[in-house]
Amino acid sequence: MQQNKTKVNFNGIARTSIAPLYARAKISNEYSSIFNDAKAVELVERMDSDLISINKVDTNYFDFSLVARAIQFDNVVKAYIKEHPHASVVNLGTGLDTGFYRIDNGTIHWYDLDLPEVIEARKQLIPETDRSTCIAKSFLDPSWCQDIKTESGVFMVAGGLLRYFSETQVCQFFSLLADRLPGSEIVFEAESKSSSIVDGNSGAYGVGWSDHEPEKRDALQTEALRAFKNVWVRVPKDVKDRMLGALTTPTKPQSTEWEDFEVWWNQLNAQEKGKAMSDFLAGHSKDLKCECPLEDANEMTMWDNRITVVDQFPLFRDIPRDPSLSLSIRQFMDYTDEKGRIKIFHIRV
Ligand SMILES: C[S@@+](CC[C@H](N)C(=O)[O-])C[C@H]1O[C@@H](n2cnc3c(N)ncnc32)[C@H](O)[C@@H]1O
Repeated sequence: MQQNKTKVNFNGIARTSIAPLYARAKISNEYSSIFNDAKAVELVERMDSDLISINKVDTNYFDFSLVARAIQFDNVVKAYIKEHPHASVVNLGTGLDTGFYRIDNGTIHWYDLDLPEVIEARKQLIPETDRSTCIAKSFLDPSWCQDIKTESGVFMVAGGLLRYFSETQVCQFFSLLADRLPGSEIVFEAESKSSSIVDGNSGAYGVGWSDHEPEKRDALQTEALRAFKNVWVRVPKDVKDRMLGALTTPTKPQSTEWEDFEVWWNQLNAQEKGKAMSDFLAGHSKDLKCECPLEDANEMTMWDNRITVVDQFPLFRDIPRDPSLSLSIRQFMDYTDEKGRIKIFHIRV
């Protein structure tokens, strides 16, 4: 079995495509009544990547954030292609997403766009078909708009992509869409400023807590630790040493072993835990901080008057708080939505 595995070694930003794939496979295996992505499961089984083993930790809130995003996008795209059954759907920054296999109605044309190194690996794992084509270009390169069929409607999805780009770049991208693909629609997730910084404690992708709500704070801190384990077990020792060196808490773990880390963590009070997480995340801010936070989709209409808001709603809207999920994951979903930390924006240009 091992010999048939396809080696995937991504670097830099391309590495960020593994976690969403793994989350979709993991939740499909563990909570198939909530989400089912058979192609993602198959891909993870076929792939050989150091990042796959890294992501093999307990299911946590981060996995659910990524799957909720896929569920919401799928629903919005399905509604669009019901009205436009021959539309082009363009997955911007597709990574190893398997949206085509979840959504296909038999008549759409699907395009998977990503940077050349990702598309090269993607094609090995997921060959193109007569109705799904890869585009090896940056989404900021206007020439991709000429690579797609436009006569039956164009819908784009952009999951986990825009957060890496500045407001100026995102704004320019929307003007480019309005120029080149007028009438097209796009769905993406928007992170609020509070998704990155809350009550003096840093967070990422919806993490964060308020000392005014100690029970929720404790539950979120528990989840944050579970997610942090993902990071900790994968980074090399010298990076761990640097991370420990950056700590401003009164005490530090005895060693870089996870067991020592956990012992140390459990001795901290809630404020110290917040401080510690903040110190760690500050060191990784490039990866974790959203570069283009948005509170309300209507802010975008100020960028360009051709932008129309079709809909916006909280990330976990209508996602079942399944009793089999841990209480802290369910609380995390409620908290994220209550505070408007991550929203789904559906825009027309
Ligand atoms: C967090 S991953 C998300 C992957 C996928 N959308 C998903 O949900 O599974 C971000 C993806 O954006 C891609 N990306 C980053 N910069 C890009 C660019 N300028 N143009 C196109 N894709 C880009 C990365 O290569 C990576 O595959």
